[in-house]
Amino acid sequence: MILYAEKLHKKFPGIHILKGISLEVQKGETVAIMGKSGEGKSTLLHLLGTLDTPTSGTLRICGKEPTSSTLSTLRNQHIGFIFQAYHLLEDFTTLDNVLMPLKIGRIQGSDAKKRALTLLQAVGLESREKILAKFLSGGEKQRAAIARALINQPDLILADEPTGNLDQTHSLEIQKLLLSMAKESNTALIVVTHDEEFAKQCDRLLFLKEGRIYNQQRDLL
Ligand SMILES: Nc1ncnc2c1ncn2[C@@H]1O[C@H](COP(=O)(O)OP(=O)(O)OP(=O)(O)O)[C@@H](O)[C@H]1O
Ligand SMILES: [Mg+2]
Repeated sequence: MILYAEKLHKKFPGIHILKGISLEVQKGETVAIMGKSGEGKSTLLHLLGTLDTPTSGTLRICGKEPTSSTLSTLRNQHIGFIFQAYHLLEDFTTLDNVLMPLKIGRIQGSDAKKRALTLLQAVGLESREKILAKFLSGGEKQRAAIARALINQPDLILADEPTGNLDQTHSLEIQKLLLSMAKESNTALIVVTHDEEFAKQCDRLLFLKEGRIYNQQRDLL
């Protein structure tokens, strides 16, 4: 099992946003999470990605609980995170942004650059490799951030509205890329999306409402 979460709660001052989320995700499994704006989808993804800590509950990624001694390995080697806001390093080139996780990751040397260029091609950015990230368009930044999340061949990809800023053609390409990565490399994918067509292609579709996860739509959108 890649991800095990039991009764995760998250409270922010004045708001109890997640009220007992339990979730198990297997190798290669693809899971879509849908829900209205403000229901806590990004908050949940941040917890699952060890970027924030739950108020209570249990979380294990690849069998490891996030602790001070496992955190950096989990983040750098096991998890690929695609942020809703891209968080690229603006003054580095597109290629350097994609290569950044490798400085602490699994692949080294010329293989690294080859893999980065292959990924840039897969997201349609092969002609943008030498451009500084700050000059990329919004959709190009999103695609660069996707390539960056995939470079370390993570066991688990967490993607927060990865196609939110893309036109239909690029959106479909990214969907295909993420879903084929999952099947070909046995990578688990948890994707937050407002795109129902994308969500339906995942193995499982979950809905977040009032702090809880549901399997059925039941007027939740
Ligand atoms: N650090 C924080 N402190 C206080 N409140 C927060 C914090 N982070 C998130 N929230 C609140 O938690 C709620 C859920 O936010 P979140 O970003 O998870 O929503 P979302 O489902 O991803 O929405 P969207 O679809 O708009 O991206 C919001 O009401 C937000 O204001
Ligand atoms: Mg969000």
